[in-house]
Amino acid sequence: MKRLLSALLAAGLLFGPVAVATAQQDGGQGPVENDAAETEAAATGEDPAAEVAEEGHAETPHYPLKRPEEMSWTFAGPFGHWDLGQLQRGLKVYQEACAVCHSMNLVSMRSLADLGYSEEQVQTFAAQFQVQDGPNDSGEMFERPGTPSDRFPAPFPNPEAAAAANNGAAPPDFSLLAKARAVERGFPTFVFDIFTQYQEAGVDYIHALLTGYDEEAPAGLEIQPGTYYNPYFIAGPALAMPPPISDDQVEYTDGAPQTVDQYSRDVAAFMMWAAEPHLVERKATGFVVMIFLVIFAVMMFLVKRRVWANTPH
Ligand code: HEC
Repeated sequence: MKRLLSALLAAGLLFGPVAVATAQQDGGQGPVENDAAETEAAATGEDPAAEVAEEGHAETPHYPLKRPEEMSWTFAGPFGHWDLGQLQRGLKVYQEACAVCHSMNLVSMRSLADLGYSEEQVQTFAAQFQVQDGPNDSGEMFERPGTPSDRFPAPFPNPEAAAAANNGAAPPDFSLLAKARAVERGFPTFVFDIFTQYQEAGVDYIHALLTGYDEEAPAGLEIQPGTYYNPYFIAGPALAMPPPISDDQVEYTDGAPQTVDQYSRDVAAFMMWAAEPHLVERKATGFVVMIFLVIFAVMMFLVKRRVWANTPH
C-alpha cells in the first residue's frame, strides 16, 4: 500500500508539469476547435499546420527572433546575494544613459541606502533634482530640491508626452520592468526551471536586448522608419528605442570594463534590485523555511508511527 502511494505521488510529480506543458502548447485551444480547423482545411484542401502557423499559433513563438543568452547573476539561486558594486554601477548607467527617457516612478531615492550609500550621499543625490511641490499658501505649485523621500523624478510629465517625444512609443517605466518581461522558455526547459529555480528571465532579456543592436536586419525584413532592428525584442523585429548605450559612454571608477556588455549587465542587475529590493531576504527566509519543513515532516512521520503503533492492522 505504502509503495503504491509513493509511486502515485512520484507519478503525479512527474506528469503534472507535462500535462500543464501540453495544455500550454495547445495555446489554450481545445481539441474541438482544432478538429474544426482540420475539417475546414480538408474541405478547402489546405494543410492545417500551415494555416495554424499563418494565424500565429505556431508552436515556437515568432518573436523574439533570438532567445536571450543565460547569464550568470550573483542574485540567482537559493543563496543569491546582491553585488553592491554592480548595483552602484547600474545606478550610474541608469542615471547617465536611460533616465532621459525611462522613469522609475515607484522607487524612492531613500532606498538607495540599500546600495551601500550613506545618508548624506543619498541626500546629496536627491538634492540634485528639482521636484515640483505645493500648493503653497497662495495656492501655487513651486519647485524645490529633492529629498530622499521623493521618488525618482520622471523625465516626462505623462506617458503621452513621453510617447510624443519618442516616435509614438512611450519608454516603459523601469520600476518593475525586470520582472515584467520574460521570453517564453518552452517545454521542457520550463520544467527544469522549477528545479534549478531559474528566475532571471527578465534580466537575461534586458541584457540581450541592450547588446543585440549590432546585427544588420536580414534581407527582405521590412523595418519601419523610426525603429531599430533588434532580434531579441520580444514584440517584433524592431523597436522604437535607438541603441541607448555605447562603449566608454559611462565612466566606471572601480576598474570594471567600460563596455556595452558590462553596462548592460550592471543596469539589468540594478533594474532587478529596483523591481524586487527584498529579493535576498526572500531567498534567505525561503531557505530557512524549507529546512524547517523538512525537519517538521520527519517529526510528523515519527509522531504518526508512535500514535498508530499499538493499532493492529
Ligand atoms: C531616447 C530615449 C531612450 C533611452 C535613452 C533609452 N530608452 Fe529604452 N526605450 C525607449 C523607447 C521609446 C522604448 C519603447 C520601444 C518600443 O516599444 O518600441 C524603450 C523600451 C525599453 C525596454 C523595453 C523593451 C520591451 O520589451 O518592451 C527596455 C528594457 C529598455 N528600453 C531599456 C533601456 C535601458 C537599460 C536604457 C539605458 C541604458 C534605455 N532603455 C535608454 C527609449 C529610450
